[in-house]
This record gives sequence, C-alpha cells and structure tokens, in this order.
Amino acid sequence: MIRYFTAGESHGPTLTGIVEGVPAGLAITEADIAEHLARRQQGYGRGGRMAWEKDMARIDSGVRFGKTMGGPIAMVIQNRAFEKDKAGWPVVMNKEVEAEGIEKITLPRPGHADLVGAQKYRFDDIRPVIERSSARETGMRVACGSVARQFLKQFGIEIGGHVLRIGAAGYTDWDQIREKTASFMENGAESLYQTADESEVRCLDAELTEQMVNEIKTYRKAGSSLGGVYEIVVTGVPVGLGSYTQWDRKIDGKLAQAILSTQAMKGVEIGLGFESGARPGHQVHDEIIHTGTRFSRSTNRSGGIEGGMTTGEPIIIRGVMKPIPTMLNPLQTVDMHSLEQTETRYERSDVCALPRAVVVAESVIAPVIANAFLEKFGGDSISEIQERYST
Ligand SMILES: Cc1cc2nc3c(=O)[nH]c(=O)nc-3n(C[C@H](O)[C@H](O)[C@H](O)COP(=O)(O)O)c2cc1C
Repeated sequence: MIRYFTAGESHGPTLTGIVEGVPAGLAITEADIAEHLARRQQGYGRGGRMAWEKDMARIDSGVRFGKTMGGPIAMVIQNRAFEKDKAGWPVVMNKEVEAEGIEKITLPRPGHADLVGAQKYRFDDIRPVIERSSARETGMRVACGSVARQFLKQFGIEIGGHVLRIGAAGYTDWDQIREKTASFMENGAESLYQTADESEVRCLDAELTEQMVNEIKTYRKAGSSLGGVYEIVVTGVPVGLGSYTQWDRKIDGKLAQAILSTQAMKGVEIGLGFESGARPGHQVHDEIIHTGTRFSRSTNRSGGIEGGMTTGEPIIIRGVMKPIPTMLNPLQTVDMHSLEQTETRYERSDVCALPRAVVVAESVIAPVIANAFLEKFGGDSISEIQERYST
C-alpha cells in the first residue's frame, strides 16, 4: 500500500515528502513530477508576488537508473528564496535561536487555522500555525501524488480535472457538463486536463472562462476573494476497485476523505451528487447495457461508483473550495494579546486559488486509486502486477 507524509513550513528552507509502498520497477523522473508542480503554480487569480520561484522536487532516495527500487521515495522541494533571504525568513523561522524583536502575529484571520491552531497548541504567536496550515504544503502533496499518477498510468488509468464554477460564473446543470466532457471520456482524462489547462482558469468553456476571469477581477477590486467548484475525472478504471463489504473499504468514502483533507475544501460530490436528491430514481440510476464484450451503462450519473466499488465507467468526483481567508478588505477579529476588537491585517495572498487547487485534487486522489488497484492486483514489482492485471 502506498502511504505518504509531508513535512515543511511555508517559509522554511524545504518541503519534504516520503512516499512508501511504491512497487519496484516503476519508471519515474523528476521531470514527470515537475510537470504537475508547474501546473499547480499556474492559474488566473494569483496574488502580487510576480516572480514565483518554480517548484522542483528533487528525488533523494528510492529511485535508481530512472526506476523505483521498492523502498521509500524521499523528495525535497527547496525554497531557494530562503537561502538568499539572509536577514528575513531564516531569522523568523530559525530552528535554534529566537532573535530579538521578531514581531508576534496576534490577529487571527476568520476562516483560517489561526485562532484554533494557536489555542490548541498554546502558542502566543500565530506564526507557527500559519506556516504549517498554509497551502504551500500542497506543493509536496502534488509531488507525492505524481508518483501515484505515474503508477496508474502504467495500467492506462488517467486523472484530469477542470473548473465548473468560480463565484457566480459556472455551468448550470449536469447535462451541460457531460456534453463538454464527453469526448475526453474516450480519449482519456489526460487529454481533458491538457485542454482545460489552455484556459487561464482551467475551464473547458471559452465563454465561461471569460466570465470567471471577470468574477475574479471584480472581487480583486473589491478586496475580497472567491472559491468555486471543480470536477476530477478518472478514466481507464477497471471494474471492482474498493468493496461494499466493510465501511473502510468503500472507495467513495476514501476519495472524499482525500479531497476534504485538502486546505479549503468544504464538500465532495460523486457523480450527480447533490442533484440526485432533487430527481426521481428514473433520472438518477444508470441503466445497464451489454456492448457485446462487456457490461456498460447508458449514462454515468453514479460517477463510476456503485456500492463503494468502481463500475468500470470513468470516476467523476467534484469538490467545492471556499474563498481564500486572507483578503485585502479586512474582517472583524480580536487581538489575541490585548483582546481588543479590531480588524484583520492584509498579507499578500491570492484572490482565487481554485484553478490551482484542481491540480492538488487530481494529485490527492491518485494514491487512493493506486491503493485500491494494488489491493486487487498488487505485487512487489510493476512486471508482477502487469502479469496479474492482464490475466
Ligand atoms: C491551492 C491553494 C492555495 C491557497 N492559497 C491561499 C492563500 O493564498 N491565502 C489564504 O489565506 N488561504 C489560501 N488557501 C486556503 C487555506 O490554506 C485554508 O483555508 C486554511 O488552511 C484553513 O483550512 P480550511 O479552509 O480547510 O479550514 C489556499 C488553498 C489551496 C488549496
């Protein structure tokens, strides 16, 4: 089974990740990982700091001659700005010495981990909470997820996402989205993300792209922020990943956990999701057909999952992201030291991170699907799994 952990602070010297349980013989390079790291850094709605340092995950162990060796894979993303910033972050984030005069952060932002994090860990300074709760950590989650994606690719399983809604701009119904995505279900989900990536907000529809960009412009001017809804599609999925036999083996439950464990995600839908509650059964359940070679469905409103198991149709999963908590226009808060009612202080921040969060969501579900696959067809090496999968 694949497990991974991340370590690192937003303004620390590095992000570190360890991915364990990857079978031996998987071809992987730093470039495979860099592709998705670069995608995570692109998207309309980013904040002011223009010169974004390009993330690069260095593989430090577990890979030899371009292939995994079956042991833990360790990766490091260096924060190069940290090394150059001698008087700044290396002092604020110093692991040994607290220098004189370092300002304590005492104004918690509503919607962020600030207040509860400081209460829970008994900090008199919000800095440590900001540093680890920040979505900077998702850089390493993308790197770890890229390893699982690379594994899935060996078996024709592809993952790709696109944006459905940003603020008031978005698709109106399920059928409209299915029409937009139909061709990608045949060609594979990588073709879906490649096309979506051509839009600056990762939306497959040109008119909606324009509306979404305008939404972001409007709320940037208003000093506010925006969230939205995205959809992730997984193609090439075999029948029967996950199981109905025990609650903790149901793949829909595991996918939802992966999405909800990501910063700012507030809801998950599988297939038709919440709309199922407004339709009668005949407009929800997918009728069963036989193509001559396999069982299939005339529609895929179940999102490729029934009874906690994959049906063989593409998995369709959606997530909703709340608006970013850090905003130019302040909200009311209370100073943790003086207890004075006051306003939040602005820190540099994105206006809308949703297009970038799509890449994070693609990445966090990859290990879940890889594990369900390994549970069914697993082995210690890629060639052993290939033998089992092809029989
Ligand atoms: C890709 C991505 C980028 C984010 N960027 C920011 C940001 O710039 N500023 C901010 O305040 N929150 C940002 N967030 C959201 C916070 O990390 C998140 O709201 C916070 O950790 C609190 O966790 P919760 O929203 O899950 O309760 C981002 C989230 C994601 C997924």
